[in-house]
This record gives sequence, C-alpha cells and structure tokens, in this order.
Amino acid sequence: MDDYRGQTALITGASSGIGLALAEGFAKRGADVVIAALPNEKLPAAAAWLRRRHPVTVREIGVDLALEEGPDKLAAMVAELGLTIDVLVNNAGFGTHGNYHELDLEQNHREIMLLCAAVERMTHLFLPGMLERGRGTLINVGSVQSFQAVPHMAVYAAAKAFILSFTTALWAEYRGTGVRILTLCPAQTDTDFMDELGFEMNPGGRLRTPEEVVATAFRGLRRGAPYAVDGHRHALTAHLTGVLPRGLVARITERVVHPSRMTKPAKPPRQLPFEDPEPTAA
Ligand SMILES: NC(=O)c1ccc[n+]([C@@H]2O[C@H](COP(=O)([O-])OP(=O)(O)OC[C@H]3O[C@@H](n4cnc5c(N)ncnc54)[C@H](OP(=O)(O)O)[C@@H]3O)[C@@H](O)[C@H]2O)c1
Repeated sequence: MDDYRGQTALITGASSGIGLALAEGFAKRGADVVIAALPNEKLPAAAAWLRRRHPVTVREIGVDLALEEGPDKLAAMVAELGLTIDVLVNNAGFGTHGNYHELDLEQNHREIMLLCAAVERMTHLFLPGMLERGRGTLINVGSVQSFQAVPHMAVYAAAKAFILSFTTALWAEYRGTGVRILTLCPAQTDTDFMDELGFEMNPGGRLRTPEEVVATAFRGLRRGAPYAVDGHRHALTAHLTGVLPRGLVARITERVVHPSRMTKPAKPPRQLPFEDPEPTAA
C-alpha cells in the first residue's frame, strides 16, 4: 500500500515545509513528483534537492494558485507534459493573524482563493481521472484549526474548516472507488508558515516537524481514515473542541491567540532542507 512506483504525485506548495516533506515522502516511496508553488527561486532549488536524493523524475511548475486562473493553468501545464496524476496533494497555503478589521482585505481574499477555491477546483480537475482509472489518492491539507473557530485568525480557520468539511464529504461519497481521500490536519509545525505569521503560539513548546506530519499522512492513508490530525495531544484537543460549546472554545482561544499576547520569535531566518550543504540520498 505504501508503494507508489509507477505513479505520479502532484503536490502544491512543495517548495518548502510540509509540502516539500510530502513530496519527499512520495518520492521515497517510488513516485515521480511534480512540485508546484509560487514561481520564485525556491522552487527549482527544492526540485534539485529532491533529484539529488531520490532516483525519480521530479518536475516543477511555478504558478500562483491564489489567482482565479491558477488551478486551470496548472492542469494545462500538467497536460502539456503528458502526465497522468495519480496522487494530488492540495497543500499550498498561508495564514493571516490579527484583529479582523485591521487585516488587509486583498490578503484575506487571496487566502480564501488559495485555501478554498483552488482546493475545490484542483479536486474537480483531477478527481474524475482517478475515478475513471479506479485508483488514486487525494490529500487536502487542513489544520487543527479546521475543528474550531479561531479569533484573530478568523479567515484562515474558516477556510481550513471548509477543507475538512469538503474533503470528509468526498471521503464518504467515493468510498469503495479505489480513490483514497484524506484531510491531513497538522498542528503547529516548524516551517516558514509559523515564521510568516510572526509569532509563536506556544513559546518554548515543541513544534511538530514536517517529517512527523508526513508520517501521519501515510498512516492516515493506510488506515483509510477520513482525516488525520498530527500528534496525539493535538488529536485529543481537536476532538475535545468538537464536543465543547463552540462559543466557549472561541472565547478561550481568543485569549490565547490575542495579538497582544503574542511573542515574536527571535529566531534567525530558517534554513530550508535544500540550503543544507549535505547532498546525499536518504
Ligand atoms: N506550519 C504549521 O504550523 C501548519 C499548521 C497547520 C496547517 N498548516 C498548513 O500546511 C500547509 C503547508 O504550510 P507549511 O507550514 O509547510 O508552510 P510553508 O513552508 O510556508 O509552505 C507553504 C507553501 O505554499 C506555497 N504557496 C503559498 N502561496 C501560494 C500561492 N498563492 N500559489 C502557490 N503556492 C503558494 C509556498 O510557496 P512560497 O514559499 O514560494 O510562498 C510554499 O511552497 C498550508 O496549507 C498550511 O495552512 C501548517
């Protein structure tokens, strides 16, 4: 079940963090990979890093998936390359944090386009082919925030709730078709995402690693689970928030993530795996 030889995996947001680790997870298991992300210098560097480490074909496609036409452009480029996509991972994302009325409206719009519209459209573009072939894998990346309202991250958490609801519905709809569907729900993970948010939610606490998130994803796929929350403690919290009154959970969370309580991480810029001088295969 963990053998993806002869398959092609398309992973969005794979120029860093969880997406890059997922691309490596599929490459390690024998899949050729197509990594898609914003067209900048990180993407070819990430592709070169994967090629050095795994004897599979690695292609890269630069695309802005927050644009209305982004998913169609990506699908057209995949078709131009003559590829059949057996595995789709909708992972690209970013988050915004602050008092809602002070957040940039355009950024909120891009966040919704990337996390909701693009995920739905990419799914619609690639799922029918998987169903026709009676085989495929779809992973949509949600969050622990998919399970609750998060004040000061209202748009992000609502978008991630969309992903969990949408993907769980598809999981039930397409059971028995040979297509495996999973919502992967990471908690706070040590990636650029956290740095770009500009704060540490649990100062001093241990962040999950992208590799742990990948292990959770493959475990979830093997179990045929509708969703997989990374980390036992986070899974427990996610389920607890589901049974407690939503208003109560929102009020408690509001105190925890209030901008005035946030500490800025005093960390040097993160080193991405492909910036590591070590070039050997895993
Ligand atoms: N890290 C966490 O604590 C955490 C927790 C829960 C869920 N998640 C989710 O995990 C996923 C991956 O995040 P990460 O933590 O790995 O963060 P990351 O390292 O910042 O990776 C995000 C990836 O998405 C790409 N991306 C951003 N905007 C894009 C756009 N408009 N079009 C195409 N690609 C775009 C980024 O490319 P550039 O770098 O070039 O912008 C990057 O490759 C996201 O969906 C995030 O919401 C993360």
